[in-house]
Amino acid sequence: MIVDMPMLDMLLVDRAMTEADIPAVMAMEHAACLLPLHAWSEDNYRSSIRAGYWMRVRTEPETGRVIAVCVAMDGPDEVHLLNIAVDASHHGTGLAQTILADLYDRCRQRQAAVVWLEVRPSNAPARARYVREGFTEVGVRKNYYAALNGREDALVMKRDIDLNATTEVPRALD
Ligand SMILES: CC(C)(COP(=O)(O)OP(=O)(O)OC[C@H]1O[C@@H](n2cnc3c(N)ncnc32)[C@H](O)[C@@H]1OP(=O)(O)O)[C@@H](O)C(=O)NCCC(=O)NCCS
Repeated sequence: MIVDMPMLDMLLVDRAMTEADIPAVMAMEHAACLLPLHAWSEDNYRSSIRAGYWMRVRTEPETGRVIAVCVAMDGPDEVHLLNIAVDASHHGTGLAQTILADLYDRCRQRQAAVVWLEVRPSNAPARARYVREGFTEVGVRKNYYAALNGREDALVMKRDIDLNATTEVPRALD
């Protein structure tokens, strides 16, 4: 079955993130997050580039404006989604869904049968997206994140990847 790609994503450039993208990515992510405290730091991005993680940006072809970022770390037989953010003006357009579909394709290329992630319990939009993707909650990391009033737990979620599928039907279309 062919999965519909949102019109928006067909108009965007998908490329590797570089150090030069960090300021624009951070500005986009700060505005996208429920609280700026939730966004990644410059050091998070720099160390991820140094570590060679899979880092992609979606940009507007004409302006170069950064619309989305995704960062994932490869492990043995698994992939860990470290960060995903979409420009606030594009929330709810299904862009995160398309980016995650790319991540699943990468998993299949690498024969990685599971994707792991952590998410704040308070991050309702992200949790809604992940549940729609078929992620399930498998644990809690206590006091994992900095929060306004101390610390916040992380929900640990996982999604199995069908390594035999050429592509996967988004849960929203089930
Ligand atoms: C999480 C994020 C990447 C999703 O991007 P997006 O392109 O808007 O995602 P989608 O349009 O594919 O899906 C968003 C879902 O959240 C739902 N949603 C939006 N706001 C919501 C809210 N306040 N409460 C609950 N659900 C909400 C949408 O209805 C949609 O669900 P649906 O497919 O069932 O309609 C985006 O919200 C973001 O950039 N957030 C800031 C960074 C962040 O928190 N990243 C996650 C780190 S774990």
